[in-house]
Amino acid sequence: MARKILVTGAAGFIGSNFVHYLVANTDDVVTVLDKFTYAGNEASLTGLPENRVTVVRGDICDAEVVDRLVADSDVVVHYAAESHNDNSLHDPRPFLDTNIIGTYTLLEAVRRHGKRYHHISTDEVYGDLELDDPNRFTEATPYNPSSPYSSTKAGSDMLVRAWVRSFGVQATISNCSNNYGPRQHVEKFIPRQITNILVGERPKLYGEGLNVRDWIHADDHSSAVLRIVEAGRIGETYLIGADGEKNNKEVLELILTGMGQPADAYDHVVDRPGHDLRYAIDSTKLRTELGWQPSFPDFEKGLAATIDWYRENEAWWQPQKAATEAKYKEQGQ
Ligand code: NAD
Ligand code: DAU
Repeated sequence: MARKILVTGAAGFIGSNFVHYLVANTDDVVTVLDKFTYAGNEASLTGLPENRVTVVRGDICDAEVVDRLVADSDVVVHYAAESHNDNSLHDPRPFLDTNIIGTYTLLEAVRRHGKRYHHISTDEVYGDLELDDPNRFTEATPYNPSSPYSSTKAGSDMLVRAWVRSFGVQATISNCSNNYGPRQHVEKFIPRQITNILVGERPKLYGEGLNVRDWIHADDHSSAVLRIVEAGRIGETYLIGADGEKNNKEVLELILTGMGQPADAYDHVVDRPGHDLRYAIDSTKLRTELGWQPSFPDFEKGLAATIDWYRENEAWWQPQKAATEAKYKEQGQ
């Protein structure tokens, strides 16, 4: 029988990818719960079959709405979050509300109704690594978050662990590295630079650009989450990564040359305060225990397809571009 899956935050980048992935690869029936903040985009959910996907506009902090939707679902997959580090440095409060209280509200509802819960989190909860550290993050790495964003995600993970242990909630957690792909908001690094080039603005690199991120295609994140929902052990955490380490300067140069520009046609701007140096994921547990493999191991190919998507979908990103850049400009970035 088809499962009924409640997906929070699915008008955003990765949640919408997961809903498209579920529709294409399962016969599940999906309810989306999304507040449609600045980061939610109705156009990210267009073209999905109406008999498979219902969209509810609402806040995960609203206990009444959450209770009703959780009661009517078999599984809850929780993506909704305030997700951008730079925003968290200028106005942390919404991060506490959505990431902490929102997660608490969902946990109480799955506890009441005895539902399976999967919690989407980030590798940023582990802090950062030195560039030459031979170790990568594993499920055993101690939490050490740096920013208001990552500390609220770390707090939300801790709530899940406590609800599993104290109340027997049937939950799993995944911590994934940096995602790229279609439908990512233009505030984020890769879409910001691609769309800057498309509108005739120079790309902006924070500091010297030596910070390393471990890139994974959003489709690979979705396939890993589905695998964990179906086969993950209750109470366990799984790290998701595709061995995609690159520094920001390398990524920016690939974008510029891939779009026919000189590799140095960008500006250095003021660095992010507290900027994490390097993230790197060891996903051995997910691969050996659940047999997961990434399908998009070639970052340069995936990046080229992402550039094409932004070229072809200006109507999707254009309405948000000017306001996003105006906000960055105010901050010297
Ligand atoms: P996003 O900012 O693109 O989307 C977030 C979505 O959540 C938006 O649709 C927004 O409207 C919704 N939302 C925000 N507050 C809400 C609330 N109170 N109630 C209901 N909906 C609300 O984020 P994303 O990049 O797609 O990230 C999704 C999840 O994945 C987050 O939990 C994030 O921490 C995690 N994650 C992201 C990455 C990454 O590289 N982007 C990597 C690992 C984990
Ligand atoms: O690691 C997973 C995390 O990846 C997720 O938890 C977050 O939700 C997601 O936003 C992302 O966080 P980052 O801070 O790593 O992503 P962002 O796209 O903001 O920046 C990537 C890198 O690029 C980072 O080192 C900062 C740098 N940067 C960013 C922007 C927007 C620039 O150099 N220039 C820019 O204009």
